[in-house]
Amino acid sequence: MHITRTKTDIRELCAEWRQPGTPLVLVPTMGFLHEGHLSLMRLARQRAGVQGRVIASIFVNPTQFGPGEDFDSYPRDEARDFDLLRAEGVDAVFAPDAAAIYDPQAQTIVETTELAKTLIGKLRPGHFRGVATIVTKLFNIIRPDAAIFGEKDYQQLAVIRTMTRDLDMGVEIIGAPIQREADGLAMSSRNVRLAPADRAAAPVLARALDQAEAMAPSGITASRLRSHVRATLEAEPRARVQSVDIRDAGTLDTISGPLTRPAVILLAASFGKVFLIDNRVVHPSPEET
Ligand code: PAF
Repeated sequence: MHITRTKTDIRELCAEWRQPGTPLVLVPTMGFLHEGHLSLMRLARQRAGVQGRVIASIFVNPTQFGPGEDFDSYPRDEARDFDLLRAEGVDAVFAPDAAAIYDPQAQTIVETTELAKTLIGKLRPGHFRGVATIVTKLFNIIRPDAAIFGEKDYQQLAVIRTMTRDLDMGVEIIGAPIQREADGLAMSSRNVRLAPADRAAAPVLARALDQAEAMAPSGITASRLRSHVRATLEAEPRARVQSVDIRDAGTLDTISGPLTRPAVILLAASFGKVFLIDNRVVHPSPEET
């Protein structure tokens, strides 16, 4: 596995590899890899085929963290990450530091103007501008044919699909299903920072989503479903509920009245200082699934 630290090195490697019939597939990450990330690497290998190349990036991107957020305490373990990527047969890793990525004179940002303002964008102003800008830079540096992102960050995936389409980036965006622990907690690099009592409480997110999924085909309105989910979360004293939203699964538009099309339930809650998100697409009738 090639380990590269500079834009020049990864560009040269990708230029060598870029041939007809050998797709380059990128998996952008912020490291501290878990089984969820490894499932993205496997999907990348399937998409790349034996001839193609899988490239992972590891970069804890400072511009997507707001003041007072967990940039400094975000878990990092590069040596372990490299071992895991090697074991998955990843061809190259791009692991720059911030100075190798951002020019202090830079003045250009990428923003999905509407999507960035709603949902998590309200809780974390500027977050999606940071995500869209770094992903654009990674796409320009690596020029992948396809890139894989987890569906746990549902709004992030929508932002990336939208910017890729709007700016004609020509990169195929592939979403990968959420991976869960045995008790239902969605896998996240942040889970290791949960205190034991918070770790025990956090599966309430998945439980609330299970209940909502079961209730969705009953003709329930979006607002009643939302109240039910919120009540389940609020019954857990260790959860500080940040947001509960039910939106159109495709457009992320607000929904009112009975569910008539697939909807996504988006949750954000803090447990101690750890901010967690989760989501589930639910269907108004069994035949819609
Ligand atoms: O999902 C993440 O890990 C990050 O937001 C990403 C896409 C790697 C951009 O920094």
